[in-house]
Amino acid sequence: MADKIYIFDTTLRDGEQSAGISFSIDEKVEMARQLERLNVDIIEAGFPATSPGDREAIARICREVRGPVIAGLARAVKSDIDTAWEAVKDAETPRIHVFISASEIQMAHQLRKNREDVVEMARAAVAHARRYTSDVEFSPMDASRADADFIVEICQAAIDEGATTINIPDTLGYAIPREMEARVRHVMEHVHGIEKARVSVHCHNDLGMATANSLAGMLGGARQIEGTINGIGERAGNASLEEVIMAIKTRADYMGTYTDIKTEELYNASRMVERYSGLMLQSHKAVVGKNAFRHSSGIHQDGVLKMRETFEIMRREDIGIPIGSSIVLTKVSGSHGLRSRLADLGITPNDTELARIYEAFKDVADAKDEVDDRDLLAIVSEQTQIAVNDAWTLDLVQVSSGDHGAPTASVRLIGPDGAMHEDAAIGTGPVDAIYKAINRVTGLENTLTEFSVKSVTEGIDAQGEVTIRIDTDGGTYQGRAADPDILVASARAYVHALNRSIAAHGQAAAREAAQEAMGRV
Ligand code: KIV
Ligand code: ZN
Repeated sequence: MADKIYIFDTTLRDGEQSAGISFSIDEKVEMARQLERLNVDIIEAGFPATSPGDREAIARICREVRGPVIAGLARAVKSDIDTAWEAVKDAETPRIHVFISASEIQMAHQLRKNREDVVEMARAAVAHARRYTSDVEFSPMDASRADADFIVEICQAAIDEGATTINIPDTLGYAIPREMEARVRHVMEHVHGIEKARVSVHCHNDLGMATANSLAGMLGGARQIEGTINGIGERAGNASLEEVIMAIKTRADYMGTYTDIKTEELYNASRMVERYSGLMLQSHKAVVGKNAFRHSSGIHQDGVLKMRETFEIMRREDIGIPIGSSIVLTKVSGSHGLRSRLADLGITPNDTELARIYEAFKDVADAKDEVDDRDLLAIVSEQTQIAVNDAWTLDLVQVSSGDHGAPTASVRLIGPDGAMHEDAAIGTGPVDAIYKAINRVTGLENTLTEFSVKSVTEGIDAQGEVTIRIDTDGGTYQGRAADPDILVASARAYVHALNRSIAAHGQAAAREAAQEAMGRV
């Protein structure tokens, strides 16, 4: 009889700890809805003590998502646990997830506590969380670098106080698969009453072994696996859930386990997380990368054409990768066809959003014979970041550059006052010139920290998708845009990032900056 593996998604918590990203509340709710469609067992919706934004997002997820357990993370301190409970208490099934450092190095140098104090803190924290709910998870952080018997001791305290899930984190991605398996086995063999709880693993990817370690932990007896979509997360990220889930499905013969995941929703989940995080997948990313089911060499192509299984171990339809639709989108397509194609991709815009997506679609369709799914996803990615109250809209950008003379850009934007504002600037390159001209118009100071451009599809008429990040006033803001002209895409991506920073800092500050800038123009 195969055992069920519970899938614990922490994209919204550990995933958001990826350097340089922050999700808006709407984005978190949308992702949680996609995780519900995916049928994950547990969604770790955030770390409530860290910010009011996190608390608001979690509260909305608790109201709007049904099915998965909703977990809130808390340090092993009373106030964190109280705040976590406040945030998750309206969920259909709430969970409090308590953690504390358990390796010698972290206890001595970060917590500055000895073993006895740490065990007592863990015990008190689990007992306190249990006063609120019967679903309490305990994690001894950095477990894979900690003393194995100390992990048994601290887990024993957590079990004695009623923890219902015991998680073994490989916080630094340090473990080797066999060690991870042995560590889980050790806990299962030495903690009395462990059978009352579910054992879990939480692996990071610093040495590229997060998926392997998660599966090894499972072979050692863990029945919950934690990870994120696309493997986003602290440093090199967490275990990629799409890899873990498809490995369990594909190698059920070896592992003897299964999940309840609707794997056909994996591709949509992956694209959504890519869109909202701005962390672009490498083409050869396992399971969901652009090349994951493409065959280039003659021998492979020949084999696949004769019999798919000769060179494929998974079916793309099991992951939900679109195989092509009978609806071909061109410049003569209507919004009905567009809505239906978007629905196939798991995107259900409201009427206002659809109107905006349709306008952008027509611009792209004018430049290309056929707009494919990748084009559509790039369009949606740009349009869904536009807020109704965007402060600035790009109306025109013109650039002159070449190997003689300085690159010059002129821009025209519609401002928060509804009027047109124009300016021009010289830069070290065309993008620099555009950004300087936009800065002159908006008066918003910032530092460009990341700029990347990638081709959305193949072919000379492909759209270029530009992703940028700017730092301003201590915050990082992302902007994305796609256009057949990459300089236009660069300008629009920049304006989106500026608008996001304005939305975060309040319209009043924006108006002040705009008025000051307009005085100068
Ligand atoms: O990596 C880690 O140890 C964590 C814990 C909070 C579970 O994210
Ligand atoms: Zn982690």
